[in-house]
Amino acid sequence: MDKAKRKAVIAGNWKMNKTPKEATALLNAITPLVKDADCEVIACVPYVDLAAAIEATAGTNVKIGAENCHWAESGAFTGEISTGMLKEIGVEYVVLGHSERRQYFGETDETVNKRTKAALAAGLKPIVCVGELLWERECDITEEVIARQIKLDLWDVSEEELKNVVIAYEPVWAIGTGKTATADQAEEVCAFIRAQLAKLYNQAAADAVTIQYGGSMNDGNADELLSKTDVDGGLIGGASLVAEKFAAIVAAASK
Ligand code: PGA
Repeated sequence: MDKAKRKAVIAGNWKMNKTPKEATALLNAITPLVKDADCEVIACVPYVDLAAAIEATAGTNVKIGAENCHWAESGAFTGEISTGMLKEIGVEYVVLGHSERRQYFGETDETVNKRTKAALAAGLKPIVCVGELLWERECDITEEVIARQIKLDLWDVSEEELKNVVIAYEPVWAIGTGKTATADQAEEVCAFIRAQLAKLYNQAAADAVTIQYGGSMNDGNADELLSKTDVDGGLIGGASLVAEKFAAIVAAASK
């Protein structure tokens, strides 16, 4: 982390876990543990948990995010949720392009880009996820894959809008597998992402962007990952569902 240049952000990605009642209980456990955090703390929760989560975190330093949004304002899109719906209830962040959405629900860089632009236009802060598959890493094309995702996912996003974008580098082979990228591997790709942003925008704009690492980040490895210059935080799956573990990662980012 380089806190002189950018904000450290720790975000939980709850995925399809916790009912509204369980969400309230988990957030009631988390909020007192992270109240003195020196970083941004976010919980991204299932749609039906959002209202309960916003209520449970009112008056605290924990922000609430959704796990996706559609790009249209309204219309015939059965099962989708618009940015306006999220905004109206007080959602601040939204995870976009998570590898599980890409893998299981047909998300493409084009739809990630549309969602990103819609989120920004509505005043939501997107956490845009990028990352290579194991096979792509083995074929030594990690940089090509990441460069393509960054360029396409942020297509037509202005320098001004970029200030509200968080990028999460999540190697797909490390998600939910217990197989964390080494701190050096995480740093290498996060630094590469920043270099791409510098090419697409400029160095100052790139330096200001928070780039998280995600993929089996936990209370045991957070310190080392976050000690790297270009790793500005974490997008946490499994460990975000256990208050003490999530709080320990927040504490590591607060140093
Ligand atoms: P994990 O998930 O921490 O359970 O690996 C991370 C993510 O998918 O955001």
